[in-house]
Amino acid sequence: MKVIRGGTLVESNWQGPADLLIDDGRVVAVLAPGADVDPAAEVVDATGKLVMPGGVDPHCHVGFTSGEFTSLDSYRECTTAAVFGGTTTIVDFAIPRPGQSPLDAAEQQRQKATDGLCDSALHACVVDWDDTTADQLATMAQDGIRTVKMFTTYAGETMANEHTILKTMQTTRDLGGMVIIHCESDAIVTDSQTTAAATAGIDAAHMSVTRPEIAETAAVAAILAIAESQDAPVYFVHQSTAAAVELVADARTRGLVAFTESVAHHLILDDSAYGGENPERFVCCPPLRSADAVEELGQHLFTGHITTIGSDHCCYDTAQKEVHSHDVRHMPNGLPGVETRLPVIFSRYVRDSNLTASRFVELTSTNPAKTNGLFPRKGTLMPCADADIALWDPDVEWTVDVDALHMATDYTPYQGMTLRGKPVTVLVGGKIVVQDGELVDGTPRGRHLQAAPLDFEGGRRTQV
Ligand code: URP
Ligand code: ZN
Ligand code: ZN
Ligand code: ZN
Repeated sequence: MKVIRGGTLVESNWQGPADLLIDDGRVVAVLAPGADVDPAAEVVDATGKLVMPGGVDPHCHVGFTSGEFTSLDSYRECTTAAVFGGTTTIVDFAIPRPGQSPLDAAEQQRQKATDGLCDSALHACVVDWDDTTADQLATMAQDGIRTVKMFTTYAGETMANEHTILKTMQTTRDLGGMVIIHCESDAIVTDSQTTAAATAGIDAAHMSVTRPEIAETAAVAAILAIAESQDAPVYFVHQSTAAAVELVADARTRGLVAFTESVAHHLILDDSAYGGENPERFVCCPPLRSADAVEELGQHLFTGHITTIGSDHCCYDTAQKEVHSHDVRHMPNGLPGVETRLPVIFSRYVRDSNLTASRFVELTSTNPAKTNGLFPRKGTLMPCADADIALWDPDVEWTVDVDALHMATDYTPYQGMTLRGKPVTVLVGGKIVVQDGELVDGTPRGRHLQAAPLDFEGGRRTQV
């Protein structure tokens, strides 16, 4: 038994001074500050700290193979970095290789998830529809895999056509699940790439023109129409522009259950990175947008239109990023970010822009838990929740340096950035794993989490 004493508890809907009693891996009680507890309870001093539910990263690729490249981390490495960054649950993807079935991809990815320091869940992925797909989705739903990733781009790899998207939406809706979708119009992207190759250039410095904002909004509009036709819930991953977010918000006002995820790099970094040194290190899809677009997107953290913040963690190193930096069509897309997701958002938006700490918890922990069928086991510190807890020093100033991070790569897109606030002590299942910034318990306790059916009833009831 432990008591976390003297801190400020931050939940998504309130914050205030409180002590937290935990036992057997779970939260037992939220207590008035200084309340009597069993004298045998170990005291964890949280004076001056924010006591938050550990982060839930809804978008994290672990050892992800795309084209000729595989991102570099194992579950152990990814979850170690996650925990150092205050995240105690990751949701990974089982993305089939060409010709592989969704179920086979899920079983293969599950087998890798044996040595995590924290719990994980999995998104399935459908690329092609055939007469076995519905049964495969039902089997995975039974096994607690209910969210299904789809792509409107990456033709020849993971792109699904509209028939497949519609059928998958129908089926996941009836299984208590939800399609989560990467939206960029493949036609617009392909044409923009061809034009860029013939004119401005197709190297990493020209990333922006190869995937314009209109490619994203076009695909979001098309997918919303399919979801509305089926009254199916839908979650848009890594929305990078205010215009895309607003299309989803409008659909919500018409009654559709639709969610927006943004990822940390689109809320912090801008396309000036493509004009600097090593532009390839910033190549991701959708690409980083203009500084004005980042500002507009960030406003939707305050309007409420953004539901969750993920990392879209993809742990490539500089050598992998450099191989085809002369041609973005062949580059590995994605940025390492599972460890930095929470600190960069906390610093930029809570410390520098008055986002409340409660809204921060909602965006980075509570809502990701809800949209993945993991709430209230994750995403809160109410009694019975798992005792996955991050103690934050909200005032500490520090400078991001790749040498002090734990991700299995040799760079971070935030190198040299000065931040305010950091998770200093992190508990997983009631055990202190990171204490004062040091790993003190590397026991692989990570479990595969079963997602509960999402409570959207016909697409039109509970919204997070
Ligand atoms: O650039 C990205 N986002 N890479 C990872 C795969 C995906 O599209 O999410
Ligand atoms: Zn994507
Ligand atoms: Zn992704
Ligand atoms: Zn090349």
